[in-house]
Amino acid sequence: MAKKKRRRTKQTSLQRWGYVIGIMLILVFGAVWLNVNKGPVQSDTVQVNSVSMALDELTLGKAIYAENCAACHGVNLEGEENWQEPNEDGSFKAPPHDETGHTWHHSDAYLLSRIRFGTQDLDTGLQSQSNMPAYEDVLTNQEIEAVLGYIKSNWSADIQEIQAER
Ligand code: HEC
Repeated sequence: MAKKKRRRTKQTSLQRWGYVIGIMLILVFGAVWLNVNKGPVQSDTVQVNSVSMALDELTLGKAIYAENCAACHGVNLEGEENWQEPNEDGSFKAPPHDETGHTWHHSDAYLLSRIRFGTQDLDTGLQSQSNMPAYEDVLTNQEIEAVLGYIKSNWSADIQEIQAER
């Protein structure tokens, strides 16, 4: 009886070592695998028509756009229907942010400021005609820059280059 028991204990302790080594191997390979996969993701950039952007910024900008801007400027940046005609009260409709609009006619500084301050930095005459909200208390600077980055990522390389000179 006693002999048998000892043998079984031996086997179990061997098995136990097997488990321990097995788990250690899994941990080591797991760590190596994670490291291999972590490196590129963190510093990943994507080539969006000639301009390279950080993937996280693009993803963030896209989400911010969908949540905050798409309702007026269109899910695909197409703007409000008949955006060139004013509303009945004389106010402007939300223009497209794709190439058919005039967003790309403006400098980054102007666009960032329009997003931050909405109508507040427009000429007083124009203020009553605009329904563009101010996002300075809603979005962080990083989010505002990301959303502009996302808008630009929809433009062709040519348009991006022209806009960069503004
Ligand atoms: C309630 C509707 C509404 C929402 C929501 C909205 N906008 Fe606007 N936006 C407008 C209107 C209307 C205009 C046109 C009048 C103007 O220029 O002020 C405009 C103009 C702009 C302009 C100026 C474009 C140009 O060529 O002068 C920018 C840039 C802009 N919006 C960006 C954004 C971004 C980015 C968001 C989301 C964070 C956003 N807008 C959310 C209504 C909206």
